[in-house]
Amino acid sequence: MSFIDLHAHLLPHWDDGSDSWKTTMEMLRQGAADGISQVVCTPHVMSKKDLDEESTIIKLYNELLQRAAAEHLDIRLHLGAELFIQPDIDFSRRIATYGGNRRYFLVEFPMNLIPDFVAKTFFDCLLEEHIPVVAHPERYARILADSSKAFDFVERGALLQINAGSLLGTFGQNVRATAITLLDHQLAAVVSSDAHDVKMRPLKLKAAFQFVCDRWGSEQAQRLFVDNPRRILAGEEVTVEPIRPAEGPQDATEKFKSLLRKVGIKK
Ligand SMILES: [Fe+2]
Repeated sequence: MSFIDLHAHLLPHWDDGSDSWKTTMEMLRQGAADGISQVVCTPHVMSKKDLDEESTIIKLYNELLQRAAAEHLDIRLHLGAELFIQPDIDFSRRIATYGGNRRYFLVEFPMNLIPDFVAKTFFDCLLEEHIPVVAHPERYARILADSSKAFDFVERGALLQINAGSLLGTFGQNVRATAITLLDHQLAAVVSSDAHDVKMRPLKLKAAFQFVCDRWGSEQAQRLFVDNPRRILAGEEVTVEPIRPAEGPQDATEKFKSLLRKVGIKK
């Protein structure tokens, strides 16, 4: 399988991802062995100041290209960023969009609150045909409490990127249940690794791909791990057909029981 990973923290010494070139190269080897054929480096960009320092990121990326070529690694690299939401995003920056395609950008929110200005910012972006890809919505408190909020983003034109680890339980059972709910309602456009290191959050997609194949079928898995990521990188149209989840907060115990049923454990 040839997975395309749209979210990975491979560049060393920039954010909380890879802590050395040794780790970065180990992550890349891991990804290649796991069936990942292309990966986008998406360093955290927390502010306008970080975005203005894109030359540092580009320098690290160029060094990574050289190191990967020297090792003849069978994995193609691209550059982007994971932008922390801010009211004005400078889309003239090369790293602001996937591969500089000026169309799709990866964006994250604070974990505990989704700021009020997000709706207007997204609206303004979409008017200019800059399409937000929301990183790991299943991890945000607001969406954990009410997954219909995720539907609102998709309805307005954003795409959702689920973390592979969320589907496998890396972030706990609540996050896992929410990720499953989002896939049950056809809200996800893509599954990515959000790799940070070699052990806890590795550059791997195969296990999550298998989980999606088993639960939602191989066509859906192909769309989430291969076809949609390829389209996003190429700046092509991506369509989703979302179903609105039940509104309102879900009882955590009920949600957990429902998860156990979903993964085939009766309680
Ligand atoms: Fe990330």
